[in-house]
Amino acid sequence: MEIILKNIKDTEKLAKKIAKDLPKGGPSVLALYGNLGSGKTTFTQFLAKALGIKEKILSPTFVIMKTYKLSDANTRIHANDTNKLKQMVHIDTYRLNSAKDLTTLGLKDLLKDKENILVIEWPEKIEKLLPKNTVRIYFSVVSEKERKIVIK
Ligand SMILES: Nc1ncnc2c1ncn2[C@@H]1O[C@H](COP(=O)(O)OP(=O)(O)OP(=O)(O)O)[C@@H](O)[C@H]1O
Ligand SMILES: [Mg+2]
Repeated sequence: MEIILKNIKDTEKLAKKIAKDLPKGGPSVLALYGNLGSGKTTFTQFLAKALGIKEKILSPTFVIMKTYKLSDANTRIHANDTNKLKQMVHIDTYRLNSAKDLTTLGLKDLLKDKENILVIEWPEKIEKLLPKNTVRIYFSVVSEKERKIVIK
């Protein structure tokens, strides 16, 4: 599926829609591909907002991984039989040297927990670790405010 986001509001709308429609039956994994400045972190900030996370989402480039708890109220809003959400884990592999570093960060365990939503920027480096139901979103810059999004 290909979408043109005309401005940042469109990016927010898309994030809201995806928050409502996360993959079920396992941990929700969103792999965000695209160049520097294409909008991966911006999208993640809107996704967090849609999930009711009040904390400010910073680019995790320097910390590689950051976890945000979902409040109980939101867990209920987004809960259904197969998909209860507990926390959003924001990962940015940009400064990661190898997939081994993420093993150290406990990625495999995070991927086992169905109540997690993982949002991964620069997922190329850990492609092999991504589960089958991973939603892949490709961002590219069209103009200052426009972005092209391809969802697979
Ligand atoms: N429609 C849009 N959607 C998303 N971001 C937009 C849009 N229009 C303009 N922008 C701007 O583009 C920039 C995107 O930066 P962002 O940090 O989200 O990129 P990134 O893909 O996470 O980059 P990096 O690979 O460095 O982490 C922001 O400054 C944002 O305000
Ligand atoms: Mg980013």
